[in-house]
Amino acid sequence: MRNFRKIGILAGLALGVSVVALNAYASEPTVPPAPPAFPAEGKIKYVSRDSILEFKALPEYHEPDWVTKNFVDSGKLPAVKDRLPKEPMVFKTENMPDGPGVYGDVMRHVIGGRPEGWNYGAGQTQGWGGIDIGLSECLTRTAPLFQVEAKDTEPLPNLAKSWEWSQDGHKLTMHLIEGAKWSDGAPFNADDLMFYWEDEVIDPNVSPLGGGASPEAFGEGTTLTKIDDYTVEWTFKEAFPKQYLYTMAYPNFCPGPSHILKLQHPKYSKNTYDQFKNAFPPEFMNMPVMGAWVPVEYRPDDIIVMRRNPYYWKVDEKGNQLPYLNELHYKLSTWADRDVQAVAGSADFSNLEQPENFVASLKRAAEKTAPARLAFGPRLIGYNLRMNLSGNGWGDPDARSQAIRELNRNEDFRKAVTMAVDRKAIGDSLVKGPFTAIYAGGLSSGTSFYDRNSTVYYPFDLKGAKALLAKVGLKDTDGDGFVNFPAGTAGGKNVEIVLLVNNDYTTDKSLAEGVVGQMEKLGIKIIINALDGPKRDNAHYAGQFDWLVQRNTTELASVVQNTEQLAAVGPRTSWHHRAGKDNQLDLLPYEKELADIVNKFRTSQDNDERVALMKQYQKTATEHVDTVGLTEYPGALIINKRFSNIPEGTPIMMFNWAEDSIIRERVWVAANKQGKYELFPQQLPGKPGDKGPIN
Ligand code: GLA
Ligand code: CA
Repeated sequence: MRNFRKIGILAGLALGVSVVALNAYASEPTVPPAPPAFPAEGKIKYVSRDSILEFKALPEYHEPDWVTKNFVDSGKLPAVKDRLPKEPMVFKTENMPDGPGVYGDVMRHVIGGRPEGWNYGAGQTQGWGGIDIGLSECLTRTAPLFQVEAKDTEPLPNLAKSWEWSQDGHKLTMHLIEGAKWSDGAPFNADDLMFYWEDEVIDPNVSPLGGGASPEAFGEGTTLTKIDDYTVEWTFKEAFPKQYLYTMAYPNFCPGPSHILKLQHPKYSKNTYDQFKNAFPPEFMNMPVMGAWVPVEYRPDDIIVMRRNPYYWKVDEKGNQLPYLNELHYKLSTWADRDVQAVAGSADFSNLEQPENFVASLKRAAEKTAPARLAFGPRLIGYNLRMNLSGNGWGDPDARSQAIRELNRNEDFRKAVTMAVDRKAIGDSLVKGPFTAIYAGGLSSGTSFYDRNSTVYYPFDLKGAKALLAKVGLKDTDGDGFVNFPAGTAGGKNVEIVLLVNNDYTTDKSLAEGVVGQMEKLGIKIIINALDGPKRDNAHYAGQFDWLVQRNTTELASVVQNTEQLAAVGPRTSWHHRAGKDNQLDLLPYEKELADIVNKFRTSQDNDERVALMKQYQKTATEHVDTVGLTEYPGALIINKRFSNIPEGTPIMMFNWAEDSIIRERVWVAANKQGKYELFPQQLPGKPGDKGPIN
C-alpha cells in the first residue's frame, strides 16, 4: 500500500494535479492500478485496408440454384445480373479466413430486446443483438477495421463506394453504388440519402435510433446536397474533417427506403410524427432493406425470421451473390439465455458480456464435445455511473431533481462519490478471477488511445469521501444514517437519488445494487429505477434521471467511432449532459474543455496531435470525474463451430459489435455441416406489407 501511494503522488504531480488538491484527501489521486493480466485468446491477423473489398463488375454471377429455378425461370424475379448493381461490392478471397463459400443454413441469434417496429430512421429499435445492423446498410462501414493496421484506418466504403475531397478540404463528394436496389426491387439512390438527412436527421421532430444522429454529429453547419442520382456533396466548416467518415457508418447514416417512408412522413402526408414513427409495426413484414436478409415472420415473444435479400448488392470473387446463409433467426428471449443457448448449441452466436455467466460458459466450452468456440478478446467492456449534469432543464426536473442536479454539478460531490466506490468489491461481486479491472472512468483501457499515466484515479477512501460530503454541506441532520439537504434546500429532506438502470441485463442490475450498498455506507440513499430496454433508453434520452448505470458504447472503446459522444459538442451528443427545451447547454468549465478537445480531435489531420489530445481528454475527464467508472473486463465471442469465415480474434465490441465485425454476409457453413434449421426453405421475401415470404 505504501509503495502504491508513492507512485500515486509522483504520478499526480506529473499530471499537474495541484498540491492543494493532494492535501485535501486522506488518499491522493493516483493512476489506476495495473490491471490483472488477461491475454486475449484470439490473435488478430492484421491486414491492409485495401485487401478486404473492392467494387467491380465480374464476368458472371451466381445465386442459389433454387432461386434461379423457382423464381427467375418462372419470371418472378429478373436474372441475378440484372438485380445486381453495375459494379457490386466484391469481397476479396485473400481476406476471407476460409475462402469463398457455399449456400445454405441459418445463423440462429437470441436476443433480450423486442422489436418496436421497423422505422429505424424514426428511432425504433428492432430489439438489438445485431438485427438492425443486418437490416440497415450505411454509407461507410467500420466494424471490420478491428483487423486493419492502425496506420491504415479509414472507414470502408459501403453504400458510398468512393469519395474525394475538394482541394480546400471543405467539400466531400461521395459516389454511391450505381444501380443497386432495395430488397423489393425499388431503386436505391441519392433520394434515399436526402430523405434521411432532411426529413429524419435535420427534422427536429424525428430522432434516428440511438438518440444520436443529430446534425451536430456531422459538425456544426454541415450540409448535404444531391448532385445527381448517384452523387452527393457534403460541405463542412472545417477543412478535411475525415472523422465524419466514421459518423457516416452505423448507427448514424444508414438510410431507410424513402419510397415507402416518405408516404408516411408528416411533411408529405396528413400523418402526425407519432403516426409516422409507428407506421411500420413489428407485424409489418417484408420491410424493404439494403441489408442481406429481410424480415418475413414475426411471432411475439418467440422469433423473428429473416430470409435472403434477392437484390443484395455484394458478391464474392467468383461472382456468387451474397449472403451465403439463406436465413437468420432472432429468437426473442433474454440476454442471459443467449449465452446459455450459444454454449449449448441450440443457438449460434453470443457476445459473452455478462461476467455472471463467464465461469459456466468457460467450463462447457472447454469440453471436447462443445458445439461452440469461445474466445476472449481485449478488455473493452466497461461500465460507468453517469450523473445528469444539466442544470437548465433537460428532462424538466422538479425541485427535488433540480437540487440533485446542483449536487451533480459540484465537483467535490462527484469526487466524494467516486472515492466511495470500492471497485475491487464491485468487480469481485460480478466474477472472481483476473477478468475485472479497476476502471477510473474515461477511455477504456483496451483502446489504443488509452494512456494510464494520463488517467486520474481516486482510490477507495470512505473517510475522505465523507469529509468531502460534509464540505459540500451534506449532513445527516435527523440521524437516520442518510445525509440531508441543508435546511433551505428541498425541505432539508434526505438526499435521495434515483438511479436509472436497464432491467434487461443481470450485470446492469448487479452493478446498480453494488452502487446502492456502497452509497449507503457513504450516507447517500439511492433508489433504483429499473426499466426495460426501450423504456430505459427513452427515459435516458429524455433526461429523466438523476444518475444512471451505463454499459460503455463504442466511443470509449474505439475513440474514432461515435467520437462526438465523448463530450457535449452539441445539444444532444453527450450521454449525461444534453440541452433542455431551449436547446442551450450549461457546460461546466471542464466540460467546455472536453468539448474543445473533442472538436479539435474531430478535425485534426495529425496523428501525434490526436494521440496528445486524447491524453488531455483522459486527464480532464478523469480528474474532474466526468463519469464514475465502475468496472471493466474482457468479453468473449461465442460462435458455433460449424461456421466458416469467422475472423480470429474478433472483439465483441470495438468499432461496432461483433455481429457486424464478423461480416455476416460472408459467413458460410460447409455442406456436410449444414443443419436443418431453415424455417422457410426455398422461399424469398414478398412485397412490403405482405404477410410472409413467397415461393
Ligand atoms: C445488445 C447486446 C450486445 C450486442 C448489441 C448489438 O446491446 O447486449 O451484445 O449484441 O445488442 O446491437
Ligand atoms: Ca438523514
